[in-house]
This record gives sequence, C-alpha cells and structure tokens, in this order.
Amino acid sequence: MNKIVVAGGRKLKGRVRVSGAKNASLAVLCAAMMSTGEVTLENVPAINDIFVLADILRGLGAEVKWLDRGLLYLKPPDRVSCEGATYPEVKKLRASSLLLGPLLARFGCARVALPGGCNIGIRPMDLHFKGLVGLGADLTLEHGCISAESKGLKGARIYLDFPSVGATENIMMAACLAKGQTVIENVAKEPELVDLANFLNSLGARVRGAGTDVIKVEGTGGCLDGGRYSIIPDRIEAGTFMVAAAASRGEVIVENVIPFHLQPVTAKLREAGVDVEEREDKILVSGSKPYQNIDIKTMPYPGFPTDMQSPMMAMLCTVPGLSLITENIFENRFQVVNELKRMGASIKVEGRVAVIEGVPEVQGAQVRATDLRAGAALVVAGLLANGETEISNAELIYRGYEDLVDKLSSLGAVIRGEDGEDCAGPAGRATGEWS
Ligand code: EPZ
Repeated sequence: MNKIVVAGGRKLKGRVRVSGAKNASLAVLCAAMMSTGEVTLENVPAINDIFVLADILRGLGAEVKWLDRGLLYLKPPDRVSCEGATYPEVKKLRASSLLLGPLLARFGCARVALPGGCNIGIRPMDLHFKGLVGLGADLTLEHGCISAESKGLKGARIYLDFPSVGATENIMMAACLAKGQTVIENVAKEPELVDLANFLNSLGARVRGAGTDVIKVEGTGGCLDGGRYSIIPDRIEAGTFMVAAAASRGEVIVENVIPFHLQPVTAKLREAGVDVEEREDKILVSGSKPYQNIDIKTMPYPGFPTDMQSPMMAMLCTVPGLSLITENIFENRFQVVNELKRMGASIKVEGRVAVIEGVPEVQGAQVRATDLRAGAALVVAGLLANGETEISNAELIYRGYEDLVDKLSSLGAVIRGEDGEDCAGPAGRATGEWS
C-alpha cells in the first residue's frame, strides 16, 4: 500500500512544470488503434493509468513502447481477436471503455468488459451505446462484457441527452470510419476532447466543431494513417498546483499551461481573494491576503470542472465563513469529506451540496485516498495542516499525477512517498517503462 506523508505549514514557492493531460492521452491512445501506421505521441504523462492502458493495448496485439520520457510509440495490430480486452485489466481502468468505438470502427467488432463503477458514481454507458447503435452497431451485454459488432458503420444524427465526455469521444471516434456524415448534438466541449479531435484530424479524419455544441464527422469508411502528435497540458494537474499554492499561502509559477483552459479555476480562486496572474503559457498564483468564502457549482466545460471540486474543498476548509460546493456531474463525489473531517474540517453534506464552515486550522492525521482527486485534495489539506498527514492508498493519486511528490518537494513541501510492497517502482512508478 503506497503512502504519501506530508508536513504542513510550509508555503510553496518556485516554479513547477505541468505534464501532458491524462484524459487526453487515454482517449488518444485508444484512437490510435484506428491507425494502420505508426503513431508517436509527445508529452504523454508517465502515470499508472497510461501504464495500464498500454498493457491492455499490448494484450490486443499492439506494439507500445516508450521511446523516451513522455514519448510513446504505438503500432496497432492488423487485426484483433473479438475476445477483446478482458475484465481483469479493464476493471483497473474505466477509460478502456473508450476502446469500444475505435475497435468497432476499425475491426468490425469489439469486446470490452463493462468497467466497474468507481467511488464517484455508477458511471453508466447508456449514451455510448445509444450513439454506437445509432451508427449501426449491434451491441450485446453478457457476463459483464459489452460485445459490439458491425458490418460497416453508417453516418447518423445522434443527440446526447447529457454532454458526456466519454460518450462524445467514443461516438466521434467510431464516426471517423463510418460511411457518410455523422452529426452529434449536445456534445461535451472539454479541451481533452478537442485534443482528441485534433489528433484524429492529424491522422486524416474529418472532424469539425469539436469544442462547440455540435460535432460533424465526414466518415472516411476506411482507416486512418499514422502520424505524430503532441498532447495538451493537463489542466487538472495545473489547477491542483494552483490550489495547492493558494492553500499554502505561497507563490508559485505553474508552467506549460493553456490559461484559457483554466478560466473557471482562475475565476473562483480570484473570487476567494487569491492573486492569479495569467501569462502566455504559465500562471502565477500567490496567496498572501485573507481569503473569502465562495460558492462553487461543478458543470460540464466551460463550467467549473468536477475534477477540481475536491482539491478546492480542501483549500476552503480554513477559509472563514460558509462555502458551498454543488456537485452536478457525479452522484457520489464527496467521499473526501469524511477524510477532511478526520483532520478537523467542518463540512456538512446534503445531497449534492457540501457546506464547508471554515475552521481556524486543520490538523495532520492518518487519512485515506478514496479516489484520484480526493487523494490530491488530501495532499492539499496536508500542506496547510498543523502537523504531519499520512495518506494511504496513494496509488490512486499516482494514477493521475506524474511525479507529484518530486514536484511538490521542488516547491519546498516536506513530503515523501512510501512505497508499499505491492507497488511498482519508486513512488508508484512502474520501473523500466521507458527503458
Ligand atoms: C471523463 O469521465 C473524465 N475521465 C473524468 O475524469 C471527468 O471527471 C469526467 O469526464 C467529467 O468531466 C476521462 O476522460 C478518462 P462523463 P467520463 O461521461 O467520460 C453520466 C478524473 O479524475 N453519464 O462526462 O466518464 C455519468 O454518470 C476523471 O480524471 C451517463 O449518464 O464522464 C456522469 O454522471 C474522473 N451516461 C456524467 O454523465 C453515459 O453513457 C459525466 O460523465 C455516460 C455518462
């Protein structure tokens, strides 16, 4: 069991460089399976979710190898068995459900175990299925696996009842190889999805309108070429460092960011009284003045991102007055509350609303990461706590934050990773991955 131990009371100072976006990299890796050539991806973060997906793709016959730090090479197979990805691996990674569209479109069949729900919600796939069936796929659900077949996908008009990121991505990818035009309405607009569309177009697809409410795809009916592509920076990692800098009352320059992608986070930090200065590809955060309580509502992009909700809650624990956080995206994303209360926070949850009453200080304690972003929130809370905080289940944090311990140490945090016997390499990193 991995642990992260952090001592509170230090102001973060200095510069930190953000890695490539986890959620763009995962979708792009799945999309790469539609290529008949070789694909080289730059700025891919070395995080456990990527290691797991790489293993799943290897299990499907792809050649996947790290050419250097951040540089990932993929050669898809010419065919895949319709047995597809099996449950043990898929269970480890929800995002492997994004293989459904690409495998179906390229190989005419796909079999993906229905990923289990996770701590933040039941994570249904009804909108994924609605879109793929709309394109002409036959889907069956048996023994916890989704089997999809098609004799050739055809373009269609599809309306998403909710702007689901994953459903938009799966349908958009499949539509690239369908015959004819597909129009997808009420789509998600997250930057990671736009990055996926740009990647697909770099391989010869014809996707228009990503980032707006309607995406149009002119299906090529064939396959995609190979190519080289650079992944966008991770706005959630960047936002987490911005909140950590603010919570510790420090002064940090977060580098390798696209400030526009962080507008909702910047706006809310400014509302709380944090100084945030946007520069071309960096953001300067400094927190010296007393903070104000604020209200946050998570919404689909460009609203406040649900993935930043828990880290923000951690910062608000010691902000005087009542702050409200309404979680509108996932039905169970307040798991971090009980852990923050073990540190002395005063938080009440009523349905989708968490009411945070600021306390003078939180104390270091033994706490447990319940999901990736909750774990990041506990690191933020540990930075501002009085005393030492020990976070167990830290492998959940290593799923989405590359070299988190090293990066925070470089900003002056007193923090260490303790590797459990079952972990892979230092601080949860699988060793030898990019040798
Ligand atoms: C993606 O998950 C991200 N994961 C999540 O990041 C992120 O929180 C989420 O988008 C929202 O921005 C990846 O990109 C790998 P959704 P996804 O489909 O695609 C409901 C992290 O911490 N829904 O937009 O699964 C669903 O239940 C992770 O990095 C349906 O009802 O999110 C949820 O309430 C966590 N039917 C809402 O939509 C469906 O068919 C949002 O889900 C699909 C989704």
